[in-house]
Amino acid sequence: MYADKSQAQARRPMTLSRLREMKAAGEKITMLTAYDASFASLLDEAGVDTLLIGDSLGMVIQGHDTTLPVSIDDVVYHTRAVANGTHHAQLIADMPFMSYATPQQALVSAARLMQEGGAHMVKLEGGAVQVETVRYLTERGIPVCAHLGLTPQHVHKLGGYKVQGREEHAARALREDAAALEAAGADMVVLECVPSALAAEVTAALDMPVIGIGAGVDCDGQVLVVYDMLGITPGKRPKFSKDFLAGKADVRAAIADYVEQVRAGTFPGEEHAFS
Ligand code: KIV
Repeated sequence: MYADKSQAQARRPMTLSRLREMKAAGEKITMLTAYDASFASLLDEAGVDTLLIGDSLGMVIQGHDTTLPVSIDDVVYHTRAVANGTHHAQLIADMPFMSYATPQQALVSAARLMQEGGAHMVKLEGGAVQVETVRYLTERGIPVCAHLGLTPQHVHKLGGYKVQGREEHAARALREDAAALEAAGADMVVLECVPSALAAEVTAALDMPVIGIGAGVDCDGQVLVVYDMLGITPGKRPKFSKDFLAGKADVRAAIADYVEQVRAGTFPGEEHAFS
């Protein structure tokens, strides 16, 4: 947390090379989702390293049951709003369902997110099947964050929002997918809802930063949906999240506590992780 706004503004913009340095130095990377300029500005001032314009917006902003109805226009719109409120954080925009079904379609979608939205990196879900697309994008100068484990765009195929990688064959596939995506040029990977021991192993094996959500404390950084960590998402809070606003004076204090706890390695605890 920065003592005042001028201190925050003195920070240099976050870059991919700095994120890699943080991994190498064992400094934890902080990430939260953001969908609008006001939250983006609060998160940026609090020193959050990376902001994810997640397609979770389909659920927490638009009120859908899944992320599937989100369009590329929706993500471009929210990315632009977040970019308008941000000076320092690295902005990662989600590629929504069916906006990257082929490498060529992915290029068009990613170009919109960067040119119209102001994103610095795009995120896409999937393992081996996305290797060609990751190579196609990264060779054309587009930084890519992969997303493995529980991939919400595949919720119907997965049969629900379940922990992934518990069986040996699934753990092996995840390890191989992560290595293949890195070899294809991926710059970062999000691991969602995987056993902590598997996430720790994958994190140690990769050079690119690994950001966990429900993947234990040994990842290089952590991400949460901002409305989950403020306790305002309707319904049951996911096991891997925590209400950082409980007992705090305001939203700024909750965000500062999240940043501090991720950096100190005190969040997530065992109770937020899976075995
Ligand atoms: O869409 C999203 O917010 C995400 C995070 C949960 C990682 O993909």
